[in-house]
Amino acid sequence: MGFYSDTIVPRLVTCACGTKPILKQREKVVPQAQGKVLEIGMGAGHNLPYYDAKRVDAVVGIDPCATSWSLAQNRASQLGVPLEFVQGSAEDMPLPSESFDTVLMTFSLCTIPDGHSALQEIRRVLKPEGRLVFCEHGEAPDESVARWQARINPMWRRLLGGCNLNRPIVNWISKAGFGIQALDQMYLPGTPRVAGFNVWGSAQREC
Ligand SMILES: C[S@@+](CC[C@H](N)C(=O)[O-])C[C@H]1O[C@@H](n2cnc3c(N)ncnc32)[C@H](O)[C@@H]1O
Repeated sequence: MGFYSDTIVPRLVTCACGTKPILKQREKVVPQAQGKVLEIGMGAGHNLPYYDAKRVDAVVGIDPCATSWSLAQNRASQLGVPLEFVQGSAEDMPLPSESFDTVLMTFSLCTIPDGHSALQEIRRVLKPEGRLVFCEHGEAPDESVARWQARINPMWRRLLGGCNLNRPIVNWISKAGFGIQALDQMYLPGTPRVAGFNVWGSAQREC
């Protein structure tokens, strides 16, 4: 791995994840979490201040990166509900099936190496009536933007810890056996369009 990926990348990503437009996106989705919550790729815990402690019983955060978890400590101490950190990968979670009311995933599906397996795992750990709440950046609907995303992606991925600009997020979620219940999309203001196309909403397991 090395100093750049272990120390510099988590800090770079933490800065990028704390910009104003991204915090506004968190405000829209995180309060929807309820009951027992699993957060995928919790990173430096930018979502923690947005949980509604009246609706949430407990939060489990999973992330392979221990450096991010150390950056999350301040926010973690203010959460007000039990929080557990699991160091691990979303593609193979050491968590029981059908045990979460909400899985929250923000700006993580771009980075998880095998996003399809991660979505299958999310499906497994969600209770039948549970909900996946998501907010992700991904493939833009405008051809010219999408072309630039494809051009830049190899370099972007190398520099930013495996983050991909152009994953078709909604398509992947649907293909994994989820029915989309709510969906919004926009280019984030003040963000380059190649990195700023956001989709957010919620989905439920289909039988
Ligand atoms: C761009 S950061 C987003 C962090 C956080 N979700 C947020 O909204 O601020 C992507 C996160 O995905 C995590 N990640 C990378 N590979 C992963 C995997 N296989 N399973 C779970 N998380 C992973 C990274 O360590 C990083 O914390």
